[in-house]
Amino acid sequence: MSTAISAPTTHLAVVGLGYVGLPLAVRAAEAGFLVTGLDTDELRVKRLGAGDSYIEDITGERLIAVLDSGRLRVSTAYADAAGLDVCVITVPTPLRDGVPDLSYVESAGRAVAPLLTPGATVVLESTTYPGTTEEILLPLLEEGSGLRAGPEGFHLGYSPERIDPGNARWDLVNTPKIVSGIDDHALEAVEAFYDRIVTRTVPVSSLRTAELTKLLENTFRHVNIALVNELAMCARPLGVDIWEAVGAAATKPFGFMPFLPGPGVGGHCLPVDPSYLSWQVRRQLKHDVKFVSLANEINEHMPEYVVRRVAEGLRKELGMELAGARVLVLGLAYKRNTGDVRESPAVEVAGLLKERGARVRAVEPYAEPFLLPRDLLCVELTEDEVREADAVVVATDHDVFDYAMVERCASYVFDARNRCGTGTDRL
Ligand SMILES: NC(=O)c1ccc[n+]([C@@H]2O[C@H](COP(=O)([O-])OP(=O)(O)OC[C@H]3O[C@@H](n4cnc5c(N)ncnc54)[C@H](O)[C@@H]3O)[C@@H](O)[C@H]2O)c1
Repeated sequence: MSTAISAPTTHLAVVGLGYVGLPLAVRAAEAGFLVTGLDTDELRVKRLGAGDSYIEDITGERLIAVLDSGRLRVSTAYADAAGLDVCVITVPTPLRDGVPDLSYVESAGRAVAPLLTPGATVVLESTTYPGTTEEILLPLLEEGSGLRAGPEGFHLGYSPERIDPGNARWDLVNTPKIVSGIDDHALEAVEAFYDRIVTRTVPVSSLRTAELTKLLENTFRHVNIALVNELAMCARPLGVDIWEAVGAAATKPFGFMPFLPGPGVGGHCLPVDPSYLSWQVRRQLKHDVKFVSLANEINEHMPEYVVRRVAEGLRKELGMELAGARVLVLGLAYKRNTGDVRESPAVEVAGLLKERGARVRAVEPYAEPFLLPRDLLCVELTEDEVREADAVVVATDHDVFDYAMVERCASYVFDARNRCGTGTDRL
């Protein structure tokens, strides 16, 4: 009779429990890892520990199930991750005055280093410029652990996250995952880890290739949105409806991919990531990535353009000036059906309307109230609110909004997302 010996449980530490880290931690716990989720934000850790998820894609039920199973525990204390086999770093990588701010990656690296033992694997997932993992993270890990990256020490990798919050079709599991390692052993370890988490891994030859792949994807999107935004501003005076033109072009089965115009770009990715790329290229190669500069210029101008169009529309439709008008802004998140207001152009539209003297009220059903501008009055979307507004601006097209009611009850609608009827004034 043989006795079955179960494989030892892999201990995973996820550093940074936000839009990227929390879904990974929960998924890994569901896949059988013992997960320690670490975050420096005490409030976030407290909420998670109580089964209260602040990320839309992770339901309270899923979170509670992995907490109850004992497979996920959350903490602010790095010591709780002692004995880790794999560590994935998913901390913010913002810009400060146009310059990459890697201080979160650095502090995470310093805190993780003393926990490393030979054979451990560390993967950076935060979006960043090519060279970061080797130039910034590697020395911190080596110095703090007393180990070298390599077959005898720890394995180091980079694997960009492609998560698309609110996307019901593509999620962490079924979206192919780019993986890379500092050497062949590291690549093997990184790939073996993600093979237990996602359906398909895509190995690339170097950390820098993986880092650039992510920036290429986001810059591609940023540039194409800027292109269609620029055309949207030109199409109207040319007597063309940009939405119809994009829809028609999208019927071409090859060589075209539709991107939609809007009030600008937001979130942690598009307004930030392409500038990581251009900063590094400027620093290292003394070259300006012109597409990024141009896309920034056009996309950053869009909130201003929306406000100008609202002012024109009010004057034309109601003979009214924007100053003093009551304007109801629908949606403040940067993206449909999410509550993420980081760098949101909708928030900027609301702010600019106020600056021009409009009496602004806003409807945002998903965002945490404490993340919204304090001086912005948030209300429910009701018939009375719509009737009492001089203008309604569709800034973010959450599915829960009743667009038919808005069209029926509003005096004037400016639709920056093409959700109302074709008779509505729109981008
Ligand atoms: N949000 C997205 O859709 C998305 C998609 C792909 C990639 N990314 C990238 O992933 C990274 C993380 O983004 P996010 O949206 O998850 O950020 P987030 O702000 O939602 O979460 C980051 C978390 O890290 C925590 N943190 C900061 N420093 C820490 C430290 N030293 N130790 C432990 N925790 C720390 C913060 O408190 C926060 O909870 C960024 O580089 C981003 O560009 C984001």
